[in-house]
Amino acid sequence: MAAVLDGRVVIVTGAARGIGQAYAKGLAEQGATVVAADILPCEETVGMLGGDSLGLKLDVTDMASCAAMAQATVEAYGRIDGIINNAAMFGPSAVTEGARMLPFDEISEDAWQRMLTINVTGTWHACKAVVPAMRAQGYGKIVNISSNTIQLGNPNLLHYVVSKGAVATMTRCLARELGPNGIRVNTLVPGFIQSQASKDIMRENHAEGITDAMKSICSLGREQYADDLVGTAVYLLSALSDFVSGQMISVDGGACFTGM
Ligand SMILES: NC(=O)c1ccc[n+]([C@@H]2O[C@H](COP(=O)([O-])OP(=O)(O)OC[C@H]3O[C@@H](n4cnc5c(N)ncnc54)[C@H](O)[C@@H]3O)[C@@H](O)[C@H]2O)c1
Repeated sequence: MAAVLDGRVVIVTGAARGIGQAYAKGLAEQGATVVAADILPCEETVGMLGGDSLGLKLDVTDMASCAAMAQATVEAYGRIDGIINNAAMFGPSAVTEGARMLPFDEISEDAWQRMLTINVTGTWHACKAVVPAMRAQGYGKIVNISSNTIQLGNPNLLHYVVSKGAVATMTRCLARELGPNGIRVNTLVPGFIQSQASKDIMRENHAEGITDAMKSICSLGREQYADDLVGTAVYLLSALSDFVSGQMISVDGGACFTGM
């Protein structure tokens, strides 16, 4: 039986680890040819994918790096059907300090700028890079990754939450601009995921109580994992969602019901 993403070429940014790695694996299982791109090495992810897949070094803050990612994808596979803009300053790594929790007036200018540059400018760059190929095809799927922190207004993460609000807003504007070209743009809104990154953030900030607090507002009453997001990502990248654009789709077990 044909899988829903058979024949589709999809880029996942921030795919070296965590949730991005789960998207890459889930999309490949549904037949997609996956391009895994990250500022960290993607060998581990590519090794999990099987079939034809590509790992690329990417810095979303650099437009030239995003353009090179799109060019390498088209050279390898002749098209770009979709992208998940998952790369973000979230967990600490060799290249970012991650989202440190601080009162809004103690966030450094530097951390504020880096957060917005990676999460917002980086998403814009990646969209600009893939849209020419999608326009030429008259078809494409862009999935931007936000966070239900924009609905909850979580304290002590203002730079991160503001950046994810901007991503959701970008989706709506791009859905209008790109709809005439057959390009669908949607926002996937995860709840609090038990990824390595969120565990590192909780440990570094002595905030382990977040897991129970999030569980207590979740209608389904349990912790959330990266794999919980994959089905909706597959749907948004498949033909099943071809008349869906500009939407914020929450996948948080029923924690938040309201829009922005
Ligand atoms: N974990 C959660 O609770 C949660 C909740 C809501 C939304 N999200 C979002 O989901 C996504 C993945 O989160 P995660 O928990 O896997 O965190 P993570 O920190 O492990 O993932 C972010 C990825 O982006 C990459 N990255 C960072 N800067 C980059 C750059 N300049 N260029 C290219 N790649 C870069 C990192 O190397 C990493 O692989 C992020 O967008 C995050 O904001 C996470």
